[in-house]
Amino acid sequence: MTAEPVRIGVVGAGLMGKELAGVCGRWSQLVDHPSAPQVVAVADPNRSARDWFRQVPTVETFADDWRALVDDDSLDVLYLAVPHNLHEELYIAAADAGRDFLAEKPFGIDLHAAERIVAAIDASPSFVRVSSEFPFYPGALKAYAYARSGALGEVLDVRSAFQHSSDIDRGKAINWKRRVETCGEIGVMGDLGLHVAHIPLRLGFRPESVYGLLDNVVTERPGPDGSMVACDTWDNALLACRVPTDRDRSFTMLWETRRIAPGQMNSWSFEALGMDGGVRFSTRNPAVVQRFSIKDGEQVWEDVQPGHASAWPSITGGIFEFGFGDALLQMWASYLAERAGSLGDRFGTVTPGEALDAHRVFAAAVRSQESGRAEMPRA
Ligand SMILES: NC(=O)c1ccc[n+]([C@@H]2O[C@H](COP(=O)([O-])OP(=O)(O)OC[C@H]3O[C@@H](n4cnc5c(N)ncnc54)[C@H](O)[C@@H]3O)[C@@H](O)[C@H]2O)c1
Repeated sequence: MTAEPVRIGVVGAGLMGKELAGVCGRWSQLVDHPSAPQVVAVADPNRSARDWFRQVPTVETFADDWRALVDDDSLDVLYLAVPHNLHEELYIAAADAGRDFLAEKPFGIDLHAAERIVAAIDASPSFVRVSSEFPFYPGALKAYAYARSGALGEVLDVRSAFQHSSDIDRGKAINWKRRVETCGEIGVMGDLGLHVAHIPLRLGFRPESVYGLLDNVVTERPGPDGSMVACDTWDNALLACRVPTDRDRSFTMLWETRRIAPGQMNSWSFEALGMDGGVRFSTRNPAVVQRFSIKDGEQVWEDVQPGHASAWPSITGGIFEFGFGDALLQMWASYLAERAGSLGDRFGTVTPGEALDAHRVFAAAVRSQESGRAEMPRA
């Protein structure tokens, strides 16, 4: 297959913008992919962040204003990875300019921003998806396929979680992700929520009610001059949801996002249980996906080792371990293949509609925290 060159402009040269340079640098890992991406432009007002990209030989354009990239007709795709308070203006400008882009989550600082972004995308020819890489772990893909296959029987309970300990150190300095103004009122749900929503929403598990239990554990952190400043975002969120079924009942679903989860470095997990079967996977133990069934009257959990069975084939040996960088590579492979019309029945990354649905659930959780009652996600 002759791969089509894809010239990518990165807006936001921070943690995630740099990750994309790494992904493109090892693109030859993939077999027969229809696209050949290169990062050729970067925009960031922070000079040192921008200058990091000088070591990437394909980068030609260094801009301090994102408009230079949105207006650049030589670019095929933009990767928009900036703080949440900037999503709305940037994503709408990119859609209005007809640019294809992979957006970072949460896709707007709040529900209203997400609604306006989706309206702009609906009115444009842009091909847009939203970042979420953990479902591309082979074990997660297997868990998703098993849950989708009907093997669960009548669904009883779904748990989707992302727990890490990035904020367990009270002395860690404040940054934009710890402020409502720049991260959003949804706090940790804006950072981690779409990661837990992706597979449930793709399975059609849309909550009809949400009971939100939100915690702000560390309320101040050292500022730039060392004095303490407010840290006003939710650190942890536990969402207890009810999901309707076509029978006369609903099932329970937990979405758990924690920046302060003692004992967890960076654990993303998904579990679904039904009357006939069950499945669970965690990136904490990524070489194993567990499946439950009833055999000869016995309740049996079995370990399945998915190996390196990625959505998009790669040169990596089938028995070798899979990690975070591989998941990012697979997510980008998925986005660019879908853009090229070659995704087929492979797993795709988050659609704008799914990101909007996730925002509806997060907004309901914030209302629930205030009212003390379960709230319905509102369209
Ligand atoms: N998919 C994931 O696993 C994942 C992980 C972390 C962050 N994210 C998301 O990625 C996005 C960026 O997060 P990050 O961790 O890379 O943040 P970061 O703070 O490391 O980087 C953000 C960059 O944006 C730049 N920036 C600020 N204003 C800008 C502007 N007007 N124009 C262009 N650039 C500007 C900053 O200078 C900084 O370099 C967020 O939406 C975040 O939620 C996703």
